[in-house]
Amino acid sequence: MMTRSHCYWVSCIITIYFSLLKHSLASPTLHLCRHDQRDALLEFSDEFPIDESNPSPWNKSSDCCVWEGVTCGNKSGQVISLNLTSTVLNSSLKTNSSLFKLQSLRHLDLSGCNLKGEIPSSLENLSRLSHLDLSINQLVGEIPASIGNLNHLRYLNLWDNNLIGDVPASIGNLKELTFIDLEYNILSGSFPISFANLTKLYYVSAGENSFHGPFPKSLFLIPSLKVVSLQGNQFTGPIEFENTSSSSKLHYLRLARNRLNGPIPESISEFLNLRYLYLQRNNVSGSIPRSISKLVNLQQLSVSRNMLEGEVPGCLWSLTLLGLSYNSFSSFEKFSQDSSIELLQLNSNSFRGPFPLWICKFKWLTFLDLSNNLFSGSIPPCLKNLIDSFTELILRNNNFNGTLPDIFASASELQILDVSGNQLEGNFPKSLINCKALQFVNVGSNKIKDTFPSWLGSLPSLHILILRSNDFYGPLHHRNVSIGFQSLGIIDISHNNFTGTLPPHYFSSWREMTTFANLSRYVLGFLDNRTYGVYQSLEMVNKGVEMSFERIQEDFTAIDFSGNNFYGKIPESVGFLKELRLLNLSGNAFTSNIPRFLANLTKLETLDLSCNKLSGQIPLDLDKLSFLSYMNFSHNRLQGPVPRGTQFQRQKCSSFSGNPRLYGLEDICRETHVPNPTLQQPEELSEAEEQMFNWVAAAIAYGPGVFCGLVIGYIFTSHNHEWFTENFGRRKPRVTTSAR
Ligand SMILES: *[C@@H]1O[C@H](CO)[C@@H](O)[C@H](O)[C@H]1NC(C)=O
Ligand SMILES: *[C@@H]1O[C@H](CO)[C@@H](O)[C@H](O)[C@H]1NC(C)=O
Ligand SMILES: *[C@@H]1O[C@H](CO)[C@@H](O)[C@H](O)[C@H]1NC(C)=O
Ligand SMILES: *[C@@H]1O[C@H](CO)[C@@H](O)[C@H](O)[C@H]1NC(C)=O
Ligand SMILES: *[C@@H]1O[C@H](CO)[C@@H](O)[C@H](O)[C@H]1NC(C)=O
Ligand SMILES: *[C@@H]1O[C@H](CO)[C@@H](O)[C@H](O)[C@H]1NC(C)=O
Ligand SMILES: *[C@@H]1O[C@H](CO)[C@@H](O)[C@H](O)[C@H]1NC(C)=O
Ligand SMILES: *[C@@H]1O[C@H](CO)[C@@H](O)[C@H](O)[C@H]1NC(C)=O
Ligand SMILES: *[C@@H]1O[C@H](CO)[C@@H](O)[C@H](O)[C@H]1NC(C)=O
Ligand SMILES: *[C@@H]1O[C@H](CO)[C@@H](O)[C@H](O)[C@H]1NC(C)=O
Ligand SMILES: *[C@@H]1O[C@H](CO)[C@@H](O)[C@H](O)[C@H]1NC(C)=O
Ligand SMILES: *[C@@H]1O[C@H](CO)[C@@H](O)[C@H](O)[C@H]1NC(C)=O
Repeated sequence: MMTRSHCYWVSCIITIYFSLLKHSLASPTLHLCRHDQRDALLEFSDEFPIDESNPSPWNKSSDCCVWEGVTCGNKSGQVISLNLTSTVLNSSLKTNSSLFKLQSLRHLDLSGCNLKGEIPSSLENLSRLSHLDLSINQLVGEIPASIGNLNHLRYLNLWDNNLIGDVPASIGNLKELTFIDLEYNILSGSFPISFANLTKLYYVSAGENSFHGPFPKSLFLIPSLKVVSLQGNQFTGPIEFENTSSSSKLHYLRLARNRLNGPIPESISEFLNLRYLYLQRNNVSGSIPRSISKLVNLQQLSVSRNMLEGEVPGCLWSLTLLGLSYNSFSSFEKFSQDSSIELLQLNSNSFRGPFPLWICKFKWLTFLDLSNNLFSGSIPPCLKNLIDSFTELILRNNNFNGTLPDIFASASELQILDVSGNQLEGNFPKSLINCKALQFVNVGSNKIKDTFPSWLGSLPSLHILILRSNDFYGPLHHRNVSIGFQSLGIIDISHNNFTGTLPPHYFSSWREMTTFANLSRYVLGFLDNRTYGVYQSLEMVNKGVEMSFERIQEDFTAIDFSGNNFYGKIPESVGFLKELRLLNLSGNAFTSNIPRFLANLTKLETLDLSCNKLSGQIPLDLDKLSFLSYMNFSHNRLQGPVPRGTQFQRQKCSSFSGNPRLYGLEDICRETHVPNPTLQQPEELSEAEEQMFNWVAAAIAYGPGVFCGLVIGYIFTSHNHEWFTENFGRRKPRVTTSAR
């Protein structure tokens, strides 16, 4: 009995023991969290203000190792990883923060946490750290030198903060470092040569800072280097590499927007793995070295806005993206092999001669810009072969002649067509009716002789239409034809031979101008000062956009019908165009009164009604238009008093001249009246642009707000390509948020 019962108990105990063992083996993570670790985490979270709408997800009575963002070591129960990315902490990291009690931490991600203040030097206490991500915060001050003591660090990301000062040389101690991103800060000084000691680095990004001094050539001693991004700094002097070797792994090199000069070094062709090379906006000179043909992996090259010249090597036609604009290239080697070019910018160089016909063989081409060169002869009909996939075709300011071929029947992707400033004649191409994606059409300053393409009114996205300075003729409007143009924001048909009357309801369908425009599609990507597109000229960008970029809340809208033969009444529906900024009806034969409803256009900045046959009084209500800074009523048959408002009193006397029966001009026309100094032409506009943007130039002079809107209106076009200009890879996420 005794033995049996003894056996029974023994077996029971064994069974219980094994079942317990089995249980604990089955759930090895149960109650792993060490109390000191849990307390440290809770103290850490208490260091930040409590956000009622977003309470801490950490449940005090549960195991801290299963808390969101927390990972423990399997055996020790110590927190080895803390990932709080995108949690709103909204305060600073304290020097004595309990975070530093988590001594086993290897992985710390506090990116996008709205962290403020400085990076505490006590961060060095986390001596096991191998991954540190503090990107996308508002950290200020210097990078603490103590960071050089984190000698297990492999990944360091400080992207998009407001850090200042020199990069501490102690970073050169981080022998394990493979990745460092310092982009979008305000770091200065020269680039620490101690980096050359970091032999495991493959990714170095220090762009968009204020680094200066010579090009950091010693960086290129690092054999593992793959990505180097130094754009948007003030590095000076020639581009040199301390060590170029055909075994180099370098595949991405971005040096745009510095002050580098001298030639592109021949030695660059030793980087046989190079795929992406961006040198735009420097002062690099000479010609592109022939040896670049050795870079068989090269896919994208931009050297725009430098001082390069000579012949473009033929091998470059095999890239996918090629930006050569704003240099002095004069010729190109012919294309022979297959081409995979998708984007080609040859604009603003000294190319001459006929349209390079072999471009018609670039079957992947979607973007072509040949503007501001001396190309001549006709635009070849063979472009029809590739027009299907085109999004942008820009040929403006050349000497192209003949007709604009009617090749657009299948151009369903085409958004931008700009052939302005040539000598094109003949008809306006009817096949454009098929281009449902069209947003921008500019055929200004040619000799096109046709009637108004009212059928464009059916295009749902057409935002800008410029026909100025051609030989268009006839009426704008035919009875029983719907007017459309629901997305039109800018129309310039000035200096043609249009005639006829406009019915009273003419403008009532132009919805973009009548309601508050939804701008996101144009503005996105351009709020950031540093990412303006290639398409717009530097001169315009230079002249005030820096400040204007901030002010793009509204669209720029403009109607310029000047210099035609319109007659009859100004349509009353003009009063619906509540978003209108510029209205120019001068140099026509409009009669009758100035419509009172003009006073409804509360955003109007420029109003020119000069040289018509308008009669009656200037509506006194116009006084209310507080943004109206330029107006011209001269050479009409107006009578009665000039409104007393300050907007009127600030005008030049000549804005009212040629109306003998107007009175109340004594103050305005006093000899001592000093004209507004801002009415001068901006100096830096090139001749071509002046011609192109006549009224725009005026708008610039009268108000930066107007200018800004236009530039945006005009350059939104390149937003597809901003990766190519400046923004390859990541975008500052803030840009998107601030666009709201
Ligand atoms: C916290 O966890 C305990 C036990 O796991 C649970 O009973 C309790 O409801 C949890 N509290 C919250 C707020 O989720
Ligand atoms: C913990 O153990 C699991 C299962 O053995 C393993 O997959 C995991 O990688 C370990 N985690 C750590 C941080 O060591
Ligand atoms: C951190 O967590 C986020 C989601 O919460 C995840 O997307 C990200 O990959 C994590 N980071 C790391 C380095 O594990
Ligand atoms: C962050 O804190 C500031 C005050 O320091 C407060 O004004 C702001 O609303 C807070 N933001 C969030 C998202 O909690
Ligand atoms: C950092 O570590 C030192 C010693 O290693 C210790 O004295 C100090 O208290 C720690 N600091 C913090 C903030 O934990
Ligand atoms: C950190 O120091 C501040 C004063 O500098 C003190 O108020 C706070 O309690 C300390 N926090 C911890 C966790 O020691
Ligand atoms: C690189 O490291 C060596 C030894 O590790 C050291 O002597 C040298 O000063 C370092 N160079 C730089 C530029 O930091
Ligand atoms: C140059 O770089 C290659 C590999 O990138 C390396 O093998 C060679 O030793 C380096 N030479 C010098 C002088 O650093
Ligand atoms: C176009 O210009 C070329 C010279 O550049 C001239 O030879 C040709 O006759 C012109 N064609 C037309 C249609 O005017
Ligand atoms: C403008 O059109 C009228 C007819 O409507 C014509 O008589 C005149 O010659 C044209 N002017 C120009 C410059 O083409
Ligand atoms: C743009 O530049 C202006 C002045 O140059 C500056 O005040 C503003 O903050 C900048 N905006 C952005 C989004 O960087
Ligand atoms: C102009 O505004 C007045 C008052 O706000 C309104 O009654 C009138 O209908 C408006 N006219 C037009 C054409 O928009």
